[in-house]
Amino acid sequence: MKRKTRVALLTSGGDCQGLNATIRAIGKTLFQYVDNLEIYGMYDGYRGLIEGDYLYMDADNFSGIINLGGTILGTSRLNFVPGKALLDDEGNDVMDQMLATYNRLNLDCIICLGGNGTQKSAKLLQDAGMNIITLPKTIDNDIFGTDETFGFQSAVDIATDVMDSIHTTATAHSRIFVVECMGRDAGWLTLSAGIAAGADAILIPEIPYDINKLAAYIDGRRRKGRRFSIIAMAEGALSREAKQLSEDERRQLKKENKFSSVSYELADKLEKLTGQETRVVIPGHYQRGGSPCPRDRVLATRFGTAAARLVMEKKYGYMVGIVKDEIVAVPLETAASKTKFLPVDHPLIQTARDVGVTFGD
Ligand code: F6P
Repeated sequence: MKRKTRVALLTSGGDCQGLNATIRAIGKTLFQYVDNLEIYGMYDGYRGLIEGDYLYMDADNFSGIINLGGTILGTSRLNFVPGKALLDDEGNDVMDQMLATYNRLNLDCIICLGGNGTQKSAKLLQDAGMNIITLPKTIDNDIFGTDETFGFQSAVDIATDVMDSIHTTATAHSRIFVVECMGRDAGWLTLSAGIAAGADAILIPEIPYDINKLAAYIDGRRRKGRRFSIIAMAEGALSREAKQLSEDERRQLKKENKFSSVSYELADKLEKLTGQETRVVIPGHYQRGGSPCPRDRVLATRFGTAAARLVMEKKYGYMVGIVKDEIVAVPLETAASKTKFLPVDHPLIQTARDVGVTFGD
């Protein structure tokens, strides 16, 4: 009899839309083409692998979930010493426990769905001798080696929708609104949603802003009769002064700051500089919730089927990605090597400038 193929799946790090659609595509493809298959869904990401806590999955587990937000397997974040070790909450190295589960289940490979942290952790598992395939998940779109991650477009849709609604109330009250978007230290989400919603200013980490230039721009709008302004601001956006500081200095300043986030600080300063009433809206985790948009469902299905094919080819040590609309297999060490920030010469930045958007620079 042909030997069994044994695959583990896990979703790790912050959730996003499209995790279940990807899981579905992997399972459906494998169950269609591989005889003698066993799939283990690890609960709560690496925690399930550490503790040997898993769901034995049959074909039914992969049905009816394409439109479901979150992850049917649960997720968690793991601490790690970059390039060195994976640690539990008490600071203990957990690699041996993960290896033990891998060997006990006699796995052929583990498929890890996750963001930047997960790619790095997965590389450590690979270095410890496990066969690994990864998929790029995050609303931040900041994974190196792929043009797009699943979850990103759904978050863009939500952030755009928020700004659309804010437009009407901002117009009615002649106010400035700062809408703070997620994205960690990358501006992809804010830039796309800002363009889509017709924001007047877009502030992203990659282009430090000058508060006086921003205030002057808003005053200029008012002189032209445009009495409201919408600012799409990334949670990681920085002023020019903040950019001059070291990371340690910035961390210290953040601790001492009376404002709970960058947008409240900006709003406070802008109100004083322009004399115009200013409000803040932070959609936060709402951007990660709910159903994946159709584009993410299609991307997740393309990614998931490609990952299943890598399993069938026994091609391990790769992240599935997309480059110029072609599905690619990126060596895991490349994907885990760095974060994909927005290049300041990205064509979308010029597109935004062409329609009169300011980046405050
Ligand atoms: O990486 C996804 C993300 O949503 C970021 O945009 C955000 O900075 C972070 O996760 C929030 O993390 P948490 O879920 O731990 O609050």
